[in-house]
Amino acid sequence: MSDNQEVSTTGHQWDDDEGYPLQEYNNPLPKWWLYTFYATIVWSVIYWILYPAWPVGGDFTKGVLGWSMHKELREELDEANAKKKNVNEQLARMSLQEIAKKNDLLQYSISGGKAIFGDNCAPCHGQGGIGSKAGGFPNLTDDDWLYGGSLETIQETITQGRTGQMPAHLKATGGAFDEAQVNDLTQYVLSFSGRSQDAAANKRGDALFHGDAGCNNCHGDQGNGSLKGTAGGQALPPVGAPNLTDAIWLHGADLVSIRESIAKGRSGVMPAWGKGSKEVGRELDPLAIKQVTLYVHSLGGGR
Ligand code: HEC
Ligand code: HEC
Repeated sequence: MSDNQEVSTTGHQWDDDEGYPLQEYNNPLPKWWLYTFYATIVWSVIYWILYPAWPVGGDFTKGVLGWSMHKELREELDEANAKKKNVNEQLARMSLQEIAKKNDLLQYSISGGKAIFGDNCAPCHGQGGIGSKAGGFPNLTDDDWLYGGSLETIQETITQGRTGQMPAHLKATGGAFDEAQVNDLTQYVLSFSGRSQDAAANKRGDALFHGDAGCNNCHGDQGNGSLKGTAGGQALPPVGAPNLTDAIWLHGADLVSIRESIAKGRSGVMPAWGKGSKEVGRELDPLAIKQVTLYVHSLGGGR
């Protein structure tokens, strides 16, 4: 320390036994530091004047810019709502096919449709549309359709509703056939999926299916379902008769369930959601139906 005498000190010093006193220096602050410090003071004053800053009584100084967090949030919300209104108006004007071609509008519709589905359709069709055998509620995620999987047909199904009627065939439950004939028909239906062992019963069932029982009128000559019914060459609205040759069953794939379908009949009601629908005490507006249609179509089975 002896060669450093010019340094300015505060005069405060601690003595040290070995002759090296500990001194308190008093150097001026670096200029860059001082100016930065003054600048922050000036900035804080400007800030207090411009923006909300000091608590005063029960209130606070508002600042001359009039900025507030609430106002900013309100403006952002207004902007988002205006955007949404714009998009919705656009969607209302567009056809399903047009929307399907615009990926951003499609994704927007699908996410809206998913929420609508969860609120209105999932109680029957299950979350994600996987359906339920117990209720005869079809799975909407496969490529097996009772009425058709095009955008237009799905929209029609949702708007108008559908009723699928499989008549009872056993005499005891109002049909025209005896137990043996119902067994034969059951064997024939099982043969579509390669599960019939009884060739003779199978043959008798075949004759009934395409003859007296007229199952083919609804299920088609090959039993592979009929999206469009026909009578005397005239197209009829679809009857919703399932494909009996695939692995997808509305009411159960086993012999007992199939026999029960034939003996007692089955029916399934898809409520209508279009304007004036009374069935569920609720209706969806056309835009909501469009969105939920696009969602159902997107579930994987849509064509
Ligand atoms: C009360 C129960 C119920 C509700 C709620 C319901 N559905 Fe259905 N839905 C059914 C039944 C039952 C069928 C099959 C009709 C039949 O058996 O012919 C069906 C059929 C369908 C089909 C036709 C499937 C095919 O294979 O062609 C579509 C699509 C569909 N529903 C969509 C919807 C949508 C979307 C909603 C909500 C807006 C909805 N459903 C609400 C019971 C319901
Ligand atoms: C008037 C049209 C019609 C006729 C005739 C008809 N069906 Fe059906 N069938 C249907 C409909 C519609 C369903 C679906 C019922 C529902 O929506 O739940 C069905 C369902 C079935 C099922 C259940 C399928 C499944 O996926 O679970 C079987 C099996 C079946 N029919 C067999 C037959 C046989 C065999 C005959 C002749 C004896 C026959 N049907 C005659 C319309 C018909």
